[in-house]
Amino acid sequence: MKGRGEKITMLTAYDYTMARIVDEAGIDIILVGDSASNVMAGHQTTLPITLEQMIYHTECVVRAAERSLIVADLPFMSYQVTDTGALKSAGRMMKEAGAHAVKLEGGAVVVPAIRKIVDAGIPVMGHLGLTPQSIYKFGTYKVRATESREADQLLQDARSLQEAGCFSIVLEKIPASLAGQVTASLDIPTIGIGAGQGCDGQVLVTHDMLGLNKDFSPRFIRRYADLHTVMTDAIHSYQSDVKKGLFPDKSEQYG
Ligand code: KIV
Repeated sequence: MKGRGEKITMLTAYDYTMARIVDEAGIDIILVGDSASNVMAGHQTTLPITLEQMIYHTECVVRAAERSLIVADLPFMSYQVTDTGALKSAGRMMKEAGAHAVKLEGGAVVVPAIRKIVDAGIPVMGHLGLTPQSIYKFGTYKVRATESREADQLLQDARSLQEAGCFSIVLEKIPASLAGQVTASLDIPTIGIGAGQGCDGQVLVTHDMLGLNKDFSPRFIRRYADLHTVMTDAIHSYQSDVKKGLFPDKSEQYG
C-alpha cells in the first residue's frame, strides 16, 4: 500500500462487537491497543493492564474480525525485562489470542527483543514518539521530538526498527514535518496519530473518533460522531418509557 501511495487505515478495538463493526467497515488494521487500560478499565495510564488482560481483549477481537489485520499491543513489562521474556509474551499473543502481529514501544533499546520476536516468525509493529508506557519517564503527554536532538534520535530509532525487521511503525504525537521526514526515509509504512498528513496511514482510538468520551479532546482527534449524546438520549428515552409504563407495549411482550 505504501508503494501504491494508498493510505492505510487503523482503528482500535478491544471487544467482539466493536471489532465486528470496524472489520465490516473495511478498516485495514485493527489495533488491540493497551489503551484498553484507559478506555475499558478506566485507569489513568496504560501501565496497569496485564498480558493476560490483553490476551483476553485480543481473543475477543480475533473472533470478530474476518478480514482486517489484527495487531495486539504487548503491555508494559511484558517485553522490557529480557528478550526471551519478550518472545514468550509475543508467542502467547499469537498462540493463545490469535493475533496476527504484535506492537511494542521504544527505539534502539528494544531492538534486540524485536529481532528475537521477528526471528521466531512473528511480525512486529514499532511505536515511536509519544510512548505512553514511558509516561512517568517523560512526565507529560506533550508533543515529542520538537527539539533537534530528540528528532535526530527518533529518525535513527526508526531506521533501527526497520533494520531489526519491523513491518511498520506507529508515530505518535510528533511534529508533522518530522513524521514526513521519517516516512520518506523508510521502506516500511508509518502509521500516524497526531503526526500529520505525511504518514503512510492513520490510527485513532475508535472510542475517541466516535465521540464516546466527552472529556478528552486533543487537537489530533477528529470526532466523526457524537455517540455520547446519541447513547445518553437513547438511555433517557428508555428510562422515561419504563417509568411511564410505555415500555414494553403489547407488541413487545409474549402471549
Ligand atoms: O494503545 C493504543 O491505542 C495505541 C494507539 C494510540 C496507537 O497504541
